[in-house]
Amino acid sequence: MIKIAPSILSADFSCLGLEISKLKDCGADLIHIDVMDGHFVPNITIGPCVIKSIRQNSDLMFDVHLMITNPDKYITQFIDAGADLITVHVECDIDIYSTIEKIKSLDKKVGVSLNPATPISLVKPMLEKVDLILIMSVNPGFSGQKFIESSIDKIRDLKELIRSRNLHTQIEVDGGITLDNAKEVINAGADILVAGSAIFRSDDIDETIHKFKNL
Ligand code: DX5
Ligand code: ZN
Repeated sequence: MIKIAPSILSADFSCLGLEISKLKDCGADLIHIDVMDGHFVPNITIGPCVIKSIRQNSDLMFDVHLMITNPDKYITQFIDAGADLITVHVECDIDIYSTIEKIKSLDKKVGVSLNPATPISLVKPMLEKVDLILIMSVNPGFSGQKFIESSIDKIRDLKELIRSRNLHTQIEVDGGITLDNAKEVINAGADILVAGSAIFRSDDIDETIHKFKNL
């Protein structure tokens, strides 16, 4: 069954703890947390201290998506704050293999993310080493953007590559996912869907997550 990761970027930040508590028993599988530094992407969100304080509001896996220029510097802080899975962008100017090993050595799951313009050839050599590949289906920075259609082919090609190597690397897709396009994304090969506005802006969070899961 498809896994759902609500992105708290679309939640009401004035009562973030409460918003996260609402996800309990809704069928959500992970909580997607978007960390932005205003440099790697044109927006600034939250850091380790907020993650640490919301850790008490959920037992679900914290899926921390780092859209920051220097992830290496902060890995330990995010893990200490309660991250279970850390995803870094392949576009960062870092030694990504050593970052992957660092996260793994600290017993956490690791993901690598690709922006819409980045080809999957860049992550080909790391498929064996990571738990998941996060395909961005919008340009990162903001929730509520429109799904980029060419992401479908990318998901399909990546799935094919993973299957041909008999791997279990998961594909997570992030950006512009709605109840209308989710089925196509799942059919292309996604294992985890991130959804921000489609979940938090819906009238009934519980019902919406169940609809996603039943697609
Ligand atoms: C965008 C973030 C996404 C975003 C998703 O940069 O990485 O996780 O919050 O929001 P929606 O589902 O509204 O596109
Ligand atoms: Zn994200």
